[in-house]
Amino acid sequence: MTSASNRQFRVTPGGCLRGDIRVPGDKSISHRAVMLGAIAEGITEVRGFLEGDDAMATLSAMRALGVAIDGPKQGALQINGVGLRGLSAPAGPLDLGNSGTSMRLFCGLLAGQTFTAELVGDASLMRRPMRRVTDPLARMGAVIHATEAGTAPLSIQPASGLHAIDYAMPMASAQVKSAVLLAGLYARGQTKVTEPGITRDHTERMLTAFGYPVESHGGEVRVSGGGRLTAGPIDVPADISSAAFFLVGAAIAAGSSLTLRDVGLNPTRIGVIEILRRMGAQIDIEPASSAGGEPVGTLHVTPAPLHGIEIPTDWVPLAIDEFPVLFIAAACAHGVTTLSGAEELRVKESDRLAVMAEGLTALGVAVETRADGLTMTGGPIQGGRVHAHGDHRIAMAFAMAGLVADGPIEISGCAEVDTSFPGFVELAAQVGLRISAVEQAT
Ligand code: S3P
Repeated sequence: MTSASNRQFRVTPGGCLRGDIRVPGDKSISHRAVMLGAIAEGITEVRGFLEGDDAMATLSAMRALGVAIDGPKQGALQINGVGLRGLSAPAGPLDLGNSGTSMRLFCGLLAGQTFTAELVGDASLMRRPMRRVTDPLARMGAVIHATEAGTAPLSIQPASGLHAIDYAMPMASAQVKSAVLLAGLYARGQTKVTEPGITRDHTERMLTAFGYPVESHGGEVRVSGGGRLTAGPIDVPADISSAAFFLVGAAIAAGSSLTLRDVGLNPTRIGVIEILRRMGAQIDIEPASSAGGEPVGTLHVTPAPLHGIEIPTDWVPLAIDEFPVLFIAAACAHGVTTLSGAEELRVKESDRLAVMAEGLTALGVAVETRADGLTMTGGPIQGGRVHAHGDHRIAMAFAMAGLVADGPIEISGCAEVDTSFPGFVELAAQVGLRISAVEQAT
């Protein structure tokens, strides 16, 4: 999945971000389009699909499960849905690369099948915690074998029928919620998931768009097993998590003026905009028509003086993927920024609190980490060398720091940027970031 090279980015200071662009399609929605399109009845036409390694891993796995999919051709896919009971046994292990979303959602989808499936991934994915999905699924009657540590490889065995559960999630996780809901489609009775904080609701929205009844209010979601999904068109909006790098870049670099088109503005994803605005950023939103049950809009961002804030803990799940680049904004802000209640950042593609703190410290920024967050004081960013530790969002976050650093920033471990943002270097350079990428064979 990931390239066998150590890609390095080099960003020279200066420059600003100007232009009118559309970042690639939303990763979370692209995964769900393939999964739900596959188990729907009829042909699902998808536009704007993210052709990054993570969503492509979901697509390849679905093909291995017997689903015919044409494309992607410039973001267009045609999925020949096989219905809820139409998946077939894969010939070998399903390799999900770097993608936690693929692995956790497939656990839910495959738990109620009549065949065995084995799930594997790259070194980062094989270290990530899977008990958070295998535990509730086991309570539904699923049989999933993991390592002693609760990690992949996972072996999902045929179950003798799943039953519904009421599940109060111990952490705010859309992946866990989605895995339980997907298993719930195959379970006897009504499955209920209660979330301790608001998490992204793309699964619920897309199930509804496919005509599957879902009840959702007050942090509780319910589905009953045995219904059917009816195929329909899906327009995938541009990914707000990818737009976030450009929002921060244009907010911190003098002379910037950037327009970002068709950005998904699902209320469960816009924490990055709320946090940046509270820090003083100038971001204008022009709502556009919604596409496939997801609100979208055009964002326009210009530079403004930022100030440090205490980030409200209930906003954390709404910006969970954007903290690496929000820390760059905080490094450029006047005063202190504090984040708490964000222990989930320690089990992402890397330990994002530790890896960001390491890189920021190398660039001369004062950071103090705690188990569930950090405190940082804004100040000048020096040039230097940082390591992204194979985490796509860390690599792109430090690239944006290069706009305002007082010397070049070299970032190693950047190959995984293709998991979520193919074409990042080219697009960033097009709007004014002074970035180049070097491949070094490993
Ligand atoms: C995702 C949910 C989030 C997020 C991830 C994508 C999803 O993970 O960090 O990038 O598509 O459901 P958690 O569910 O672990 O919070």
